[in-house]
Amino acid sequence: MRALLALTLFLTAVMPAAANPVRKDMPQADKTVEAAVETLLRRMTLEEKVGQLHFPSLAFPHAPQIEAVRRGEIGAMLNVVDPKFIRPFAEAARRSRLGIPMLFAIDAIYALKITFPPPLAWAATWRPELAERASYEVAREARAVGVNWTFAPMVDVSRDPRWGRVIEGAGEDAFLGSAFAAARVAGYRRGGLATSVKHFVGYGAPEGGRDYTGTEISTPELMDRYLPPFKAALKAGSETVMASFNTINGVPVTMNRTLVTDLLKKRLGFDGFVTSDFVAIGELVNHGVARDLEEASVLAFRAGIDFDMASGGYDLYLAKAVRDGRIKIADVDEAVRRVLRVKFRLGLFQQTAADFEALPRTVDETEVRQSARSVAQESFVLLKNDTATLPITPATRSIALIGATADSAQHDHSWWGPAGHTKPKTETLRQALEARARLGQKINYAPAFADACGREFSDKAAAIEAAKRSDVVIYNVIEDCDIQGEGVSRTKLELSGRQQELLDELAETGKPIVLVVETGRPLVLTKADKQVSTILIAWHPGTEGRAALAEVLLGDVSPSGKLPMTFPRSEGQIPIAYNALPTGRPWTGSRYTTGYVDEAHTPLYPFGHGLSYTTFAYDALVLSEPKMTIKGAIDVDVTVRNTGSRTGSEVVQLYTRQLVASRSRPVKELRAFEKMTLKPGEVRTLRFRLNAQDLGFHDDAGRYVVEAAPFKVFAGGSSETAVATDFLVTRD
Ligand code: BGC
Repeated sequence: MRALLALTLFLTAVMPAAANPVRKDMPQADKTVEAAVETLLRRMTLEEKVGQLHFPSLAFPHAPQIEAVRRGEIGAMLNVVDPKFIRPFAEAARRSRLGIPMLFAIDAIYALKITFPPPLAWAATWRPELAERASYEVAREARAVGVNWTFAPMVDVSRDPRWGRVIEGAGEDAFLGSAFAAARVAGYRRGGLATSVKHFVGYGAPEGGRDYTGTEISTPELMDRYLPPFKAALKAGSETVMASFNTINGVPVTMNRTLVTDLLKKRLGFDGFVTSDFVAIGELVNHGVARDLEEASVLAFRAGIDFDMASGGYDLYLAKAVRDGRIKIADVDEAVRRVLRVKFRLGLFQQTAADFEALPRTVDETEVRQSARSVAQESFVLLKNDTATLPITPATRSIALIGATADSAQHDHSWWGPAGHTKPKTETLRQALEARARLGQKINYAPAFADACGREFSDKAAAIEAAKRSDVVIYNVIEDCDIQGEGVSRTKLELSGRQQELLDELAETGKPIVLVVETGRPLVLTKADKQVSTILIAWHPGTEGRAALAEVLLGDVSPSGKLPMTFPRSEGQIPIAYNALPTGRPWTGSRYTTGYVDEAHTPLYPFGHGLSYTTFAYDALVLSEPKMTIKGAIDVDVTVRNTGSRTGSEVVQLYTRQLVASRSRPVKELRAFEKMTLKPGEVRTLRFRLNAQDLGFHDDAGRYVVEAAPFKVFAGGSSETAVATDFLVTRD
């Protein structure tokens, strides 16, 4: 709490007063927008202003809602995704007194019609440009039905796989998360949607991994670990920000003025609008900080929440609070200004009736599918591959294909789903393998399970038989279809249902087993790891995913994904991440050094890990200089060679550690990465620039400091790096 107080003091000291909307130094386009906003604002009644600051939670189509839009009292709708519903709303808005267009919002995250792998898998590609493309395609599909606002990207950094929502983000690292946050915002925007970067802030650190619980976060941790992806998303132009459900240090974000107004709007200069999360304003009563919805609405508004998502509080009480003098009209104007600014920036005022008549527009599905395929191919992470079981070569005569999801076309693991669409055609893994198997290669398919989620057996004996008569076993497991995403935290992360039970029996056959794991979060695979020769993490691969899987299993494509989150050995290790602080007693194996008595303290598979069908070696690092000043930079040359016999891609990762600092610094921090493809024997040198100004951190008062100090720089194909050297940062 002291830390947060210090942050408040620091923020109020550096904060400029409320910005004058039209500033001399603005580009002309912004001046035009600001002038238009002011003109409109002057014409609005209080009721029309409030109308811009909420959407209702009632289902649609709903005649009273259409009427309310017509009166200018509703400026946005959620989950209206069918043009036949969008049209009457848009028309009612056009016919309202001021004709202010509506925002149509949905959670267009990784699917509308074609389902992509989820964002955690995008991060596993370590290619932000693929995430940009995926977001663009999803946005195009959403825009084509008339949606213009997505509740994405989710950029919550998380070190806790018990929390189901890790599926929506980029994992445990702020630097990787920032690269993907920026790429996703850029892609959704290129596809025509306004974005809502979420959930501001600290939602990824729920106590106990239980969704919606509170969290305690110190100021340095907030600024260094949780904030960077938000900053990156704002820099990329995110028009809106969604506040998170949780409390931070005892104060719900929905009423946290220090975070929402002082930090986000003033210090970070965010000039779009902040929306609450779904009914979060009403939930302030459950948090025990407001007596009723009326008080909650006043608290949230005063904190800087401009927009009420579905609580109904602003609609009911905001105008009254202005009349009672509890809320200033100038503050309402400021919130409305922010909403109108977004609507003007999106070009919504230029839309005509004909634009809505033209909906839905057609989107070339081939291109969307190609993108979905590429993302899937590059997202798969090969955790282990003993005796080179993969790829399956033409010499393999028979393949047992076993598992709940092996012949399943299910691919919609986006729980908000491709609303209202007919399911696009998709290949199952069985179909994809059969279509691509080499001449004479036999697929012995025996699912073992009665359902696609691995809950109940159908014919286990047949699966064991199939394994026995095959050269290799592909066992395709899936995290139970109902236990991922929002509101599905787990305390046990092993294979769900009866899938481990079958693996125990398959392992007895002595056949090489390729475990293909469909999951939206790191699982605890410690037992399975000992039973199989190969583990391929396929995430939830999406509409094109099983085809991509077959290509990888048969060796047409070499896996190149790397883990964006640590895979723990047991749930008891959580939270676990590569970038922990050192302890005073590093592990030596003896008592009184940091570790566990019943489990190793290291992860099963570390952040950044992922194998290829070829191998890579790293030469010693070469620095342009052994030191730099705190304003300077040095180049780090990393030379990598493909030492195997196949072409493959490697994600070269660069980490640093400040060895001596005014506070304890992480044992490693990711600073740069690049994926590159090398032919057998090929050698390439990548040059990474390290700027001293990027090596700093925040102190307890929220100030960014860069210190003169000794550092180490490391490089390799995972956070367990291969090579390292030292450098110095000097004062001058
Ligand atoms: C989630 C948000 C989502 C919203 C609207 C909430 O429950 O936390 O991420 O955007 O619902 O669907």
